[in-house]
Amino acid sequence: MLTTLVVILAAAAAEPLPNTQIEALPLTAAQPDDTPAKIALGRLLFFDPILSATRDVSCATCHHPQHGWADGRPTPLGVHASGTGPSRKLVQGAAFLPLTRNTPTILNAAFNGIESGKPFDPSKSPMFWDNRAQSLEAQALAPIRQREEMRGDVCSEAEAVPAMVERLKSIPEYVKLFHTEITAEKVTQAIAAYERTLIAADSPFDRFMRGDKTALTAEQQKGMAAFQKAGCALCHNGPMLSDFKLHAIGLTDSATNRTEFRTPSLRNLKHTAPYMHHGGSTTLDEVLLFYDRLMDHAAETLEGGDTGTLPPLDPLLRQMNMLPEDHSPIKAFLESLNSDDYDKSVPERVPSGLPVTR
Ligand code: HEC
Ligand code: HEC
Repeated sequence: MLTTLVVILAAAAAEPLPNTQIEALPLTAAQPDDTPAKIALGRLLFFDPILSATRDVSCATCHHPQHGWADGRPTPLGVHASGTGPSRKLVQGAAFLPLTRNTPTILNAAFNGIESGKPFDPSKSPMFWDNRAQSLEAQALAPIRQREEMRGDVCSEAEAVPAMVERLKSIPEYVKLFHTEITAEKVTQAIAAYERTLIAADSPFDRFMRGDKTALTAEQQKGMAAFQKAGCALCHNGPMLSDFKLHAIGLTDSATNRTEFRTPSLRNLKHTAPYMHHGGSTTLDEVLLFYDRLMDHAAETLEGGDTGTLPPLDPLLRQMNMLPEDHSPIKAFLESLNSDDYDKSVPERVPSGLPVTR
């Protein structure tokens, strides 16, 4: 008896079990320096195509309130394309490879990295499907530099950000709005301050967790228990329903051969379809069937450890235990993580005078 206990404790010390708690979001993501003037400036920058070297793509081209601050597409189209959302098309003759990763919603991205029971440091917020940037500020320059997103063939990658700053300096209204000299750092700080206002922290799930026991239906409460029991919360935990860690769940990025991706938030799934880093799963039913098969694969690899032609799988998957009858209540629970209560407004005009992305 004593030996067993010691062995279990030793195993637990080697691989601590994740904190599977799920909870409500804080009601605000605002930082002390986020003044109304800075937020208003960030909003104009976000919707202004002047940030792109081609002057026709804004952040809102891919992150639009009409599509829940994503774009409703499997993968996005940046430069040399026209239209918005699912109907956006490459212009004829454009020699651009489509992007290979699905556009995440930026709704609640200000909370990326938040964990239950730990202090939250937004300067370390992981960004992108592979966590390659930390903080909203650090993220904001990446699309401006990237050829397929906002740069095209107008300038080199190294020139993209300084050239964007020069474009802003040539517009008197921006000179006035920035107060002091325009720098790339100030551009990213304003955009981040605005993004911190794009939150939806009042879903039925949040209200339930804050004490309103009528906020979830009986089926949704059953689904919450099934979600925990099935092991979803081994990775989808904390206030964002994400541990923000990288896991291999059997999907590979064809462009880079990467097999580990960040656990996505399960908030607002209504707006983030199609799902997964490649946007390859159309519905939640499809995702749940995928996990059924994944559990089988994970169990098989437990035996010999040989995954054959499959990429290695995260060992946490072996602890999953979802039954077919759990699908329906889990879907009902996921529905309770949607919220329509967020800023959907689009500015009337932007300082460059270019058309606002609608
Ligand atoms: C052409 C479409 C496109 C444009 C334009 C674009 N994005 Fe994105 N955005 C994406 C895609 C795709 C990803 C995920 C990329 C990845 O993970 O490699 C992303 C990721 C993000 C993320 C990280 C979200 C998360 O949870 O990890 C933020 C924040 C963001 N974008 C903000 C912006 C801002 C600010 C701009 C303008 C400066 C912008 N985006 C322009 C498509 C776009
Ligand atoms: C081992 C960690 C892990 C477990 C356990 C897990 N997931 Fe995931 N989940 C992920 C990762 C990582 C991704 C993204 C994978 C990718 O895109 O390549 C993901 C993606 C998703 C998505 C797509 C979200 C989007 O916006 O694209 C949904 C929905 C989802 N999981 C639901 C669930 C449910 C329901 C369960 C339990 C039945 C579960 N997950 C169990 C790690 C996990």
